[in-house]
Amino acid sequence: MAELEQEVAQKFPPAADFAAQANWNDPTIYETAAADPDAFWAGQAEQLVWSRKWDTVSEWNPPHAKWFLGGQLNVSVNCLDRHVEGGRADKAAIVFEGEPGDTKTYTYAELHQEVCKFANVLQSQGVQRGDRVTIYLPMIPEAAIAMLACARIGAPHSVVFGGFSADSLRERIHDSGSKLLITADGGWRRGGVVKLKEAADQALAGETTIEHVIVVNRTGKPEETPWTAGRDLWWHELASDASDQNEAVALDSEDLLFILYTSGSTGKPKGIAHTTGGYLTGATTTCKYIFDLKDDDVYWCTADVGWITGHSYVVYGPLSNGATVFMYEGAPDWPARDRFWELIEKHKITILYTAPTAIRAFMKWGTEWPEKHDLSSLRLLGSVGEPINPEAWLWYHKNVGGERCPIVDTWWQTETGAIMITPLPGISATKPASASRPFPGVSALVVDEKGDPLPEGGEGVGLLVITKPWPSMLRTLWGDDARYKEVYWSKFADKGYYFAGDGAKRDAEGDYWLLGRVDDVMNVAGHRVSTMEVESALVDHPSVAEAAVIGKAHDIKGQAISAFVTLKEGIEPSPELMAELKAHVAKKIGAICRPDDLFLTAELPKTRSGKIMRRLLRDIAEGRALGDTTTLADPSVVSSLKDKYTDES
Ligand code: PRX
Repeated sequence: MAELEQEVAQKFPPAADFAAQANWNDPTIYETAAADPDAFWAGQAEQLVWSRKWDTVSEWNPPHAKWFLGGQLNVSVNCLDRHVEGGRADKAAIVFEGEPGDTKTYTYAELHQEVCKFANVLQSQGVQRGDRVTIYLPMIPEAAIAMLACARIGAPHSVVFGGFSADSLRERIHDSGSKLLITADGGWRRGGVVKLKEAADQALAGETTIEHVIVVNRTGKPEETPWTAGRDLWWHELASDASDQNEAVALDSEDLLFILYTSGSTGKPKGIAHTTGGYLTGATTTCKYIFDLKDDDVYWCTADVGWITGHSYVVYGPLSNGATVFMYEGAPDWPARDRFWELIEKHKITILYTAPTAIRAFMKWGTEWPEKHDLSSLRLLGSVGEPINPEAWLWYHKNVGGERCPIVDTWWQTETGAIMITPLPGISATKPASASRPFPGVSALVVDEKGDPLPEGGEGVGLLVITKPWPSMLRTLWGDDARYKEVYWSKFADKGYYFAGDGAKRDAEGDYWLLGRVDDVMNVAGHRVSTMEVESALVDHPSVAEAAVIGKAHDIKGQAISAFVTLKEGIEPSPELMAELKAHVAKKIGAICRPDDLFLTAELPKTRSGKIMRRLLRDIAEGRALGDTTTLADPSVVSSLKDKYTDES
């Protein structure tokens, strides 16, 4: 224990040889950027290819920002054409390995051709600039191709994670008003096939805005794929007839690039809207400097493209930098618990970016798995999605990084588009579990409830805010600007601060330690899940009268879902019903939202004003002694809750 404390208190400065070769190794970058953030970001935007240069760097009409006004560019040109023309035509852009072990490499020239073909396919299906396209695919290269093809023709994409249910897909298609859906017959997961096309068909039943469905033949059994003639089209058939030349549309910097749905504190997902020039500037710059990308790197971000991490750090950030991106379709423990380490050895991965929940699972599985493999190709590690505990950080450092790789613990959100708080690997002395400090050009503070900052130089805990607009920030919520203003900007409206929803500590040296959400959003294995969303799914079941959901501490997932449910009059509790309720949530939203435990109770503990006492529920779920219950309307509820009919399997 004492040893761990000592290690935790340790600082890890960059090794001299790493710092010497790093893309950034001069700490004055922080001051230079802070002195004139607009000039800093404009300098970064210069790295991109613009078909028309901007007139104005930024415009801030709180809470609406615009960046690089008057500028025109195309994201797919920046990710592909400029590299093909600039000497990287034969360089690997995407190296893919499927779960069954099939591999495929696309050079920049080949990826460019595939994207052009698919852009032509989209146009031939009537997709025009401004039309939305929903993408519901496994982690296969076609996901990146589809996104880049949408970007090429100016059709904003909305990627829906393949683990989401038919209902979730339907809701997102409806909200975005998408015209076209791109899916696959299925994807491989732990040796089985996730039948995406079946879910897609259910999502499209009844009224829909979708006119056509383009289907990737991933599992190789076209005859077994349910088909609606006239509506459904095979990707490979359309692409084989398409030309591999497609002239990219010059988009305005502020044209919508994509919508990505994420959970908020109400049941309805929020369509985060990102635009073109600012987003690409943010993704490109952060990717280059935080991961210290070099031309000979083989870079692997393990996130699925269905999340923002997949957007910014599997597709747009690395490809815009001309990097080689490794992509893997399946599970980390298939066929065995060393799959990741085997992949790193086989593909000579140099940069690995993954989530604390995965690291904690690896820890539990034991060091024998990474020890079986040569991981010496790795030179930098990253972490994202949730707070990393010091034990996991140190395990990652030692057993994966061989004590030589810097670790970048990166804090950001779907809304921020790009990493906001992070070490710079050639500059920062990292501390296990601290995300270091705001990226150059980003202005953050830790403030109290009134918005007043912690005293200068002092240590303290509070709420994380971003005080100035940044290029890759969300522009609004799709179709709901009022909610955009309310969720992010109303809490500190007088100061004009962006409220992130996270608690943070700032230590005396100015380093930030992220402490998790302060709202009703859970973080389950690095995925954002709203308590309301799960509660709505539960009360949707005919047997349920009322439900309350909390995130309880979990040693691998960070948080796990605990649900408290009261049944309707006359419904008898049974183990079968409990299993059915859990399955109902998985079916309504997706498997990641399946509650770990379910408590059936006669009543939920409420305050006199009718608010559910979640703190109490958390105490019960985590098996702690109950805290203060004096505000409870009916204190006897607690004792009945303790005698609940439980299922903690
Ligand atoms: O609570 C923070 C947590 O994840 C939330 C954002 O989730 P999402 O939009 O799904 O994006 C995840 C990937 C960027 C944040 O509000 N979070 C993300 N990264 C970290 C983190 N918490 C602590 N440390 C991190 N490095």
